[in-house]
Amino acid sequence: MNVQQLAAALSAHFGPKVVVLASGLDGTVADLFPEERASVAHAKEKRLAEFCTGRRLAHQALERLGLPPTALPMREDRRPAWPEGVLASISHTKGVAVVVAAHKGDAELLGVDVELDQDLAEHIHRVVLTPEEQAFINAADPSRRGRLALAHFSAKECLYKAQYPVTETFLEFQDVDLTLRDAEFSGVIHKPAAAQKLPPRLDGFWVQVGGWLAAGLRKP
Ligand SMILES: CC(C)(COP(=O)(O)OP(=O)(O)OC[C@H]1O[C@@H](n2cnc3c(N)ncnc32)[C@H](O)[C@@H]1OP(=O)(O)O)[C@@H](O)C(=O)NCCC(=O)NCCS
Repeated sequence: MNVQQLAAALSAHFGPKVVVLASGLDGTVADLFPEERASVAHAKEKRLAEFCTGRRLAHQALERLGLPPTALPMREDRRPAWPEGVLASISHTKGVAVVVAAHKGDAELLGVDVELDQDLAEHIHRVVLTPEEQAFINAADPSRRGRLALAHFSAKECLYKAQYPVTETFLEFQDVDLTLRDAEFSGVIHKPAAAQKLPPRLDGFWVQVGGWLAAGLRKP
């Protein structure tokens, strides 16, 4: 597992306007502002490390954007309460937390998702994939199907996080039609409450690097 390789690959894809930070899951409560502590008052060890590492990276990302130190408590809809003028996204999975952040003038939508680079369990395929996406995967070499399914999963999670601040709308996996290509994806959201507030198609990227599979989306 190589956190710096992951950060470098994400940074290359997101471009210079986006701050990308990644770290192993070594955060502790000492990294939190008092206002952030209530969110993990009853958290078990794993969740505590994920949350604290994510918040530490988020604080650093805001500093890189030239903003003063700011507490980022969890909102009722579970996303962090980012300061006005900032778009950002957090993801964590085994061994790593990632934060991406930008000024609103430099991004209209911003999302990231990181997963362990392993096949998506087959019983989850029909939850995540539309019939057309399933057909696309079935046409691929059998040795690639599990990873392609994981790439769909990660891209949809990334897209969900990117669209949420604009639409404040919950999406099911089946609300999104994804077209996956080598290293890129395009998503079309069908749920009207979200679709009417977004461009008709959202484009992003996906990478396999350092032991993880990650998806990213930045709409300039
Ligand atoms: C948010 C979600 C997409 C990913 O959460 P996860 O599986 O724990 O995975 P990640 O670690 O990658 O992301 C968690 C982070 O997402 C962020 N997040 C949570 N809710 C969010 C929202 N509504 N919008 C944007 N970001 C959100 C938080 O920063 C959270 O980390 P934190 O609690 O430490 O701050 C998932 O939990 C969720 O809410 N799913 C429901 C919607 C969905 O998945 N639909 C299918 C895809 S279209």
